[in-house]
Amino acid sequence: MPIDVVLVGYPIWWGEAPRIMSTFIDSYDFSGKTLAAFCTSASSGFGNSDSALRSAASGATWLKGQRFSAGASVDDVMKWANGLGIN
Ligand SMILES: Cc1cc2nc3c(=O)[nH]c(=O)nc-3n(C[C@H](O)[C@H](O)[C@H](O)COP(=O)(O)O)c2cc1C
Repeated sequence: MPIDVVLVGYPIWWGEAPRIMSTFIDSYDFSGKTLAAFCTSASSGFGNSDSALRSAASGATWLKGQRFSAGASVDDVMKWANGLGIN
């Protein structure tokens, strides 16, 4: 079954997404896919951490991202994911 939705999760490092996340996005063709970014951080906000990722996969539909605190649980993330309106 083809994958249509990708949730891209990462920790905030120095106010940004770790560089390897850009490498990941650059490595695949996400055209026509639906993507949503989420991050964890000690205190920084989500900010524009996903903007580089968005521009690297501009053919994808990006949903609104979400920042979680470093101690977020799987349940927290699942609640957000389930509210995105995706299958
Ligand atoms: C190299 C490094 C840089 C970090 N920079 C930030 C930062 O700029 N802002 C922040 O709130 N947290 C920062 N943190 C904390 C991480 O975001 C936090 O540890 C992470 O979200 C928790 O996920 P983990 O359990 O996978 O480490 C940094 C952590 C590391 C290791």
